[in-house]
Amino acid sequence: MCGIVGYIGNEDTKEILLKGLEKLEYRGYDSAGIAVRSEDMNVFKVKGRIANLREAVDESVHATTGIGHTRWATHGEPSETNAHPHQSSTGRFTLVHNGVIENFEELKRDYLEGVNFASETDTEVIVQLIEKFALESGNTLEAFRKTVSLLHGSYALAVLDSENPDEIFVAKNKSPLLVGLGEDFNVVASDSMAMLQVTDQFVELMDEEVVIVKQDNVELQKLDGTTVEREPFTAEIDASDIEKGTYPHFMLKEIDEQPFVMRNIIQEYQDENDDIKLDEDIRKAMSECDRVYIIAAGTSYHAGLIGKEFLEKIAEVPTEVHVASEFSYNFPLLSEKPLFVFISQSGETADLRSVLVETNKLGHPALTLTNVPGSTLSREATYTMHLHAGPEIAVASTKAYTAQMAVLAILAVDTARAKGLTLDFDPMKELGIVSSAMESLCDQKEVFEQIARDYLSTTRNCFFIGRGLDYFVGLEGALKLKEISYIQAEGFAGGELKHGTIALIEDGTPVIALATQEHVNSSIRSNVQEVVTRGANDCIISLEGLDREGDAFVIPNVHSLLTPLVSVLPLQLISYYAALHRDCDVDKPRNLAKSVTVE
Ligand code: M6R
Repeated sequence: MCGIVGYIGNEDTKEILLKGLEKLEYRGYDSAGIAVRSEDMNVFKVKGRIANLREAVDESVHATTGIGHTRWATHGEPSETNAHPHQSSTGRFTLVHNGVIENFEELKRDYLEGVNFASETDTEVIVQLIEKFALESGNTLEAFRKTVSLLHGSYALAVLDSENPDEIFVAKNKSPLLVGLGEDFNVVASDSMAMLQVTDQFVELMDEEVVIVKQDNVELQKLDGTTVEREPFTAEIDASDIEKGTYPHFMLKEIDEQPFVMRNIIQEYQDENDDIKLDEDIRKAMSECDRVYIIAAGTSYHAGLIGKEFLEKIAEVPTEVHVASEFSYNFPLLSEKPLFVFISQSGETADLRSVLVETNKLGHPALTLTNVPGSTLSREATYTMHLHAGPEIAVASTKAYTAQMAVLAILAVDTARAKGLTLDFDPMKELGIVSSAMESLCDQKEVFEQIARDYLSTTRNCFFIGRGLDYFVGLEGALKLKEISYIQAEGFAGGELKHGTIALIEDGTPVIALATQEHVNSSIRSNVQEVVTRGANDCIISLEGLDREGDAFVIPNVHSLLTPLVSVLPLQLISYYAALHRDCDVDKPRNLAKSVTVE
């Protein structure tokens, strides 16, 4: 969602800020802006892309201090006026903000009567409050602290004061924010990726701290003014991981990376005796719990559905899977010894965090599976398992999804072994086979491009059907297709269509069916017949050995429980090409954000 950058040093800040914002584009946004300080404060804002912002920025302005922002609209439509940075009434203070201020209306009413607001945002309240308190106390830091202590909600803030040109004031609550360290310069970023261009040394900021960032010094303080010391960490992201290289889109690159990600996971979770390498505390938590509650959203929820099958079938652990946004307001009756498993690529999803806050209050153990180990959900949970998928930039999740399933399979096998269950399943060997199968699919992209052309060029809708594990993969296929191609797509259990939805089947309606599960192979094929009889254009993707004449594609044989890791690749590629054929912005689909940090 929203992104923040800031720079204070000797270089031309415009270019550093713009490049930083470009690195955050993948998170999703609808407007952007920067403020750079030369003699005066210069604010440039646009609706739309960073490319538009580049055009709007006055090249002749030379400045060495500035802040920038990408906005994903919550309060107020996407527009130039509502874009950040926002300024106080006199123009003295300029601010960027990530998050949502829940009590902005109360603050307006209680403190800012008579102040004219330029925008419809919750954010503007913050900058107006800072100005009011600064005028009253004559001290910017005090005004900033007082403002921050009044805010309810989530925020990451960076503020410039025209009367203190050598400082950027920074604070956060719930939303991530980092300060990056350099020689003769310092930076601010909501994600280290934005500033890897200038440094890999970052200091993590905590809630209820304020930070004064100068060119040659960074001072962390608690809200009461006491100084905080914190060592920087090295961001271990290879800058080339966040470049497209020769690929036209990140999504295609990330689909192609999946065989490598599988091998990476094998390496990371295997010890020198070929046993599973897992934190003993996680092993203990898994064997002590009487039920696992998986909490997730979107694609990660779909991985959770498969994870339930692994945990129940391999490890015999009763497991429930819940959509995070529903769970947080409707806690079910819990078992006596629950273990919560949060699955999140980004580790920042607000819907999951609000569940975690509650489960922490109740004292239940929590395990986060994430691609970003330092993320909020990772820090606040009892345990973390890393997905090792490498940075995922495209909004549509691909390699993180298959990594989530692979890590869940390893967790299930480890739990089964710890319980002494007899297993005929070596997860590392099987994941190796999955990796090779994935490779062979990635080498046949032209087939999926043709399927997308034949079935999806002009259609308005599409159905995905499957039974058992295939049903869950169908849900993910439908999500992938709709989020990037805007085709209305739905996933259904094969037997369920005839209970209502079959009414929507007309001549030529595409129905993509998965047939990778032996025990339901005949039934899913009957379901395909039911829709074909009513005019559907069927496309069956089956597993080697279960294939029949006329199937559109046959995936190589892998362990029956792990078929979802492979059968999803055709669906990812078909969605990719369908979006491409429709001239959609594949990596940055409309209205979506990579990291959904508001509830
Ligand atoms: O970062 P998370 O895994 O917590 O994100 C959850 C969903 O927002 C995410 O999976 C979303 O559905 C993706 N855009 C799907 O491609």
